[in-house]
Amino acid sequence: MGDFKSIVFSAMQPSGSFTLGNYLGSLKHWSKMQKKYQCFFCIADLHAITTLNINSDLNKNTLDAIALYLACGIDPKKSIIFVQSHVLQHTALYWFLNCRLSYSELTRMTQFKTKIRNSSSFSTAGLLNYPILMAADILLYQSSKVIVGEDQKQHLELTRKLAKKINNLQKNTFLIPEIIIPKYSKKIMSLFNPTKKMSKSDENNNGTIFLLDKTASIIKKIKKATTDSDISSKIRYDLKEKPGISNFLNILSSIREVSILSLEKEFSGKKYSYLKEILINEISIVIKKIKNNFYFFRKNELFLKKVVIDGAKKANFFAKKTMKKVYNLFKVLKI
Ligand code: TRP
Repeated sequence: MGDFKSIVFSAMQPSGSFTLGNYLGSLKHWSKMQKKYQCFFCIADLHAITTLNINSDLNKNTLDAIALYLACGIDPKKSIIFVQSHVLQHTALYWFLNCRLSYSELTRMTQFKTKIRNSSSFSTAGLLNYPILMAADILLYQSSKVIVGEDQKQHLELTRKLAKKINNLQKNTFLIPEIIIPKYSKKIMSLFNPTKKMSKSDENNNGTIFLLDKTASIIKKIKKATTDSDISSKIRYDLKEKPGISNFLNILSSIREVSILSLEKEFSGKKYSYLKEILINEISIVIKKIKNNFYFFRKNELFLKKVVIDGAKKANFFAKKTMKKVYNLFKVLKI
């Protein structure tokens, strides 16, 4: 088949508001893959419930996520946009994978260790098994490339290992996915505490830029953002001595898709306040466009639902094929 395109997979949790970090680290890169690949962009609602408060509005958050995907240029005519819980094979495959992975391998995952350390309530088995559900998401579609941020790399390595293990039992059950970490997508840190990742759940909202922030609030946050106490006030990349300035350079490098080195040259001899001014300007432009698009799509819930109903149908077609192989491999009784 001449027109077969290889498959790209990525997903995001619909856990409330999205940050500038989500956009620069993921969403921005997704839309660029649509021309060359058959992309699957999933809204990982089942992952979100591992940490979500049962009273929070997953329904609304999921609709927000669909609108945001569209606002960031994901085109439902080209890509398959769907909600994880709508394609039941995710949880089915998840179980089979669970039964091929050792418990000790799972407890080694650093994100799990951090999450249980920071968790104020009890830690669930869902949190431990989280990476296996990710593996199911990816392997279900025979994805050849998966786009993730640096922080998800360990989970992807586990996915590859698990897929190879199962392929050893039965050749070609799964395609082994390649991990893609976009260039110029370094982890965006909190503006308030630049040694911590910019996060939607940060207790200090001044450290996080949300994709739906008002311009006035972006200005306030950048103006207040931590720089450093170096009297020479040089603009250079130095994670140890200047984590705040380095974070600014990372953000600008991600927005413009240029190297840090070229930014250091551009800003040599300039003041911190000048760099902040440029940042305010460029972040505001990015956010304004996303925000306008978001509100346009978010108004039409019927359309948003149609997009994911359609997406789930298409995803289901691919998922069924993989599950057939898996049921055969495990010798499940056919009826
Ligand atoms: N865990 C990912 C995150 O929080 C989201 C996700 C779920 C994902 N399933 C995935 C990412 C599969 C890539 C592939 O960012």
